[in-house]
Amino acid sequence: MKMKHFLQFNDLNKAELESIFDRAKWIKAKFKAYEKHWPLQDRTLVMIFEKASTRTRLSFESGMQQLGGSAIYLNTRDSQLGRGEPVEDAAQVISRMCDIVMIRTFEQEIIERFAENSRVPVINGLTNEYHPCQILADIFTYIEQRGSIQGKTVTWIGDSNNVCNTWLQAAELLDFNVHVSTPKGYEVEVERAGLYGVDHFEEFEDPMEAAKGADIVTTDVWTSMGFENEKKDRIKDFADWQVDKDMIKLANKDALFMHCLPAHRGEEVTAEVIDGPQSIVWEEAENRLHVQKALLEYLLIGSK
Ligand code: CP
Ligand code: NVA
Repeated sequence: MKMKHFLQFNDLNKAELESIFDRAKWIKAKFKAYEKHWPLQDRTLVMIFEKASTRTRLSFESGMQQLGGSAIYLNTRDSQLGRGEPVEDAAQVISRMCDIVMIRTFEQEIIERFAENSRVPVINGLTNEYHPCQILADIFTYIEQRGSIQGKTVTWIGDSNNVCNTWLQAAELLDFNVHVSTPKGYEVEVERAGLYGVDHFEEFEDPMEAAKGADIVTTDVWTSMGFENEKKDRIKDFADWQVDKDMIKLANKDALFMHCLPAHRGEEVTAEVIDGPQSIVWEEAENRLHVQKALLEYLLIGSK
């Protein structure tokens, strides 16, 4: 199999995505039944974090162990990465000592440069522009709860950030619709989101209008990592872009609420919604583990 990276959602095609979702279902069931599945024995994942993480680190680290391999955690503070070693050099060296790499960093360009110099597959564990592993888990969760996402409507409320951009890429590939409502000045940057046409994407000034007809209502923090200096302005600018019960009422009756987490109750979402009956945020978080195990297996040994 030709070496593949997962730097953006559309690095995988529809058939590959579907095979990963099927495999994740199988891996999850096997794991829940305490049945051993060790296809990655002796393989090592290196995880590089230039930003904080709970879910991404835990799910990759435990996932790799559950597949029979091991994971090594590196961060900017206590490796040469924080002392100016060129990313190209780091990629050459790191990729000679492990079998696969996951990186959480700032600009997408950094991970692209790393991948160009890597001998092994590279996975995007979040950049300023994208968060593809999150959307893999989100769509897997939707399929698990409701079946195919094709033709469904996802409503994104708030900041047009890395998670939003990735939903937009996924919509083009898997043929569903995205309603986006952001405050003025925070609209989707179409070029950065790598959209091929705008068929699956509609912008709404009014977040309430955007929620109408939704099968999934989703949001994220108003201030993403790396944008902390804008926090004060953002709290003012996003005040009307909170997902609350009235907004959820406008969505379809069986709509689900999703959030990649961590969440700020009282800011982008009310406690009533995130802790309410339509919220599936804990399943969504757990599925990071199962779907990423399927991704690791696919990138290292191909489809099963
Ligand atoms: N959703 C997500 O990626 O969470 P962490 O920042 O905790 O990894
Ligand atoms: N958009 C958020 C996601 C965190 C998982 C951030 O980039 O900080």
